[in-house]
Amino acid sequence: MKSPWIPCCLGLLLLFDVCCALNDDKRPNFVLMMVDDLGIGDLGCYGNTTLRTPNIDMLAQEGVRLTQHIAAAPLCTPSRAAFLTGRYPIRSGMAGLGQLGVYVISAASGGLPSEEVTFAKVAKRQGYETALIGKWHLGLNCERNDDYCHHPSAHGFDHFYGITLTNLRDCQPGHGSIFTNVRAHIPFKTLGVGVATVTLLHARGVVTVRRKLVLSVVALVGAVAAIFGTFVITFPNFNCFLMRNREVVEQPYVSENLTQRMTDEAVDFLERNSALPFLLFFSFIQVHTAMFASPAFQGTSQHGIYGDAVHEVDWSVGQLMQTLERLNLKENTLVYLTSDQGAHLEEISVWGEVHRGWNGIYKAGKSTNWEGGIRVPGLLRWTGMLPAGKDIDEPTSNMDIFPTVVKLAGGMALGDRVIDGHDLMPLLQGEVERSKHEFLFHYCNAYLNAVRWHPPNSYSIWKVFFFTPDFYPENGTACMHTHACFCTASYVTYHDPPLLFDLSRDPSETTPLTPDTEPTFHSVLEEIRAAVALHKESITPVQDQLAPGHLLWKPWLQPCCSSLSQLCRCERDGGRDGHRSTVEADSPQDQHIIA
Ligand SMILES: *[C@@H]1O[C@H](CO)[C@@H](O)[C@H](O)[C@H]1NC(C)=O
Repeated sequence: MKSPWIPCCLGLLLLFDVCCALNDDKRPNFVLMMVDDLGIGDLGCYGNTTLRTPNIDMLAQEGVRLTQHIAAAPLCTPSRAAFLTGRYPIRSGMAGLGQLGVYVISAASGGLPSEEVTFAKVAKRQGYETALIGKWHLGLNCERNDDYCHHPSAHGFDHFYGITLTNLRDCQPGHGSIFTNVRAHIPFKTLGVGVATVTLLHARGVVTVRRKLVLSVVALVGAVAAIFGTFVITFPNFNCFLMRNREVVEQPYVSENLTQRMTDEAVDFLERNSALPFLLFFSFIQVHTAMFASPAFQGTSQHGIYGDAVHEVDWSVGQLMQTLERLNLKENTLVYLTSDQGAHLEEISVWGEVHRGWNGIYKAGKSTNWEGGIRVPGLLRWTGMLPAGKDIDEPTSNMDIFPTVVKLAGGMALGDRVIDGHDLMPLLQGEVERSKHEFLFHYCNAYLNAVRWHPPNSYSIWKVFFFTPDFYPENGTACMHTHACFCTASYVTYHDPPLLFDLSRDPSETTPLTPDTEPTFHSVLEEIRAAVALHKESITPVQDQLAPGHLLWKPWLQPCCSSLSQLCRCERDGGRDGHRSTVEADSPQDQHIIA
């Protein structure tokens, strides 16, 4: 970066005031890591004693550990939208009104709207080289299969290597399918009884069924089944593809060694850009189902393939950190590691193997706003600038990364929109003791589910629930029957008065308080209601990016890297043998981890 003015002037597109608050050499690089569905209780530095995560634990030793770091939503798509923009997903339309709160089809038209400003966009305008490696899950196309309106490149990422969707079970042979649930909803028994009854009545002459009608019904059912069947069988081909920038390079992708390939890609990016300011968002595809681990990690943990996958993630973090050290970048790089939400407790494989993580003492998991769904790891290291080995228990949010990056990169977001995150630096550096998040609003899709209030001059952390998900089995803490908890009316119980907890005394949310057990019950609710009213006023209606029309498969949006007759298959990126680093060749430290 020779002159800070060039990118600044380019950046004067209304939104950004200039800049240059920090001079160039003080502006850090960013390595932001997000592990998919990782539970806070899976990491050594958050108390796990049976999984080995030495590289991640080192970040805690050398940096700050946030113990009340809260994801803005308990599901991937909205949580990531909030992370990238610093705003509640409801503001960008990334919070749906229906049951489904995430994208499950890559050729759908919804996604992060281009008017949204991500930290990558800001960093890019400030002269940073930017890359996303790994999972995106925020849309791809709008109207054609090559408009890339929601693609990472439309949101400030110069480089992209990864998947635009998520690692669905369907993406790995033998791991089941998201359609298993659909099958479960077809009333085969009722249909069978119906057909048998009609046949019987027809045979007895009670009713006459015309041959033509029967044939038409059979033909119709056959056609629907054939289309649906073809769709299910080809679904992985259509949905599970790997992209390099805007090109599909592998369809369907081989996941087994994907973390290795992503790690290589990230190391290359760091090496190529070590002289520039850079921002790398490394978005792990693990530890989401379909579970996978490279051969070197298979069987290394006591916790099956899930634990092996966590070990591989930790190895990858180690590779990136070693690269920073080797390139002498440790002291001018801010490193962050988090998860997009809590562990997904409903993840038991089709073979009955446990594929879920661990949320420690926190209740429930992904898809709920109980603490297990939203309290995620939050580690920040910036050697020389942030204290080492420090814990911060104040409420913080994954939305805080946006303003923190913007400020450190020398940009300034102007007041044309609400930013819900707060710059973390004063808290991290110990300039202030209290978080600016007096209130945090916990949404389940587009529905305000719960509110957290940390009053000034008090240790209390009040949390109220307006509704809670109905668990199944009923005495459990998960929604096994639907594979995730839903937020819509028939899947929840509403509470009036709301349920009240004080997380400072009851972090596991076991016992709701009552006016008898909590003298301030009514006044706490009153304060929270007032805050909700103010918050609601600040929300302007936008297009729902998760409306049914934006979730469905639109064939004309389908990326396909060969001809349709070849079922869109291709392998242009080396595939199974495409990664360069052999795990065996790594440092003794790594060998120890693998051993
Ligand atoms: C560590 O994580 C594994 C895998 O999620 C979990 O099964 C185990 O209970 C955790 N152990 C501890 C001591 O927290």
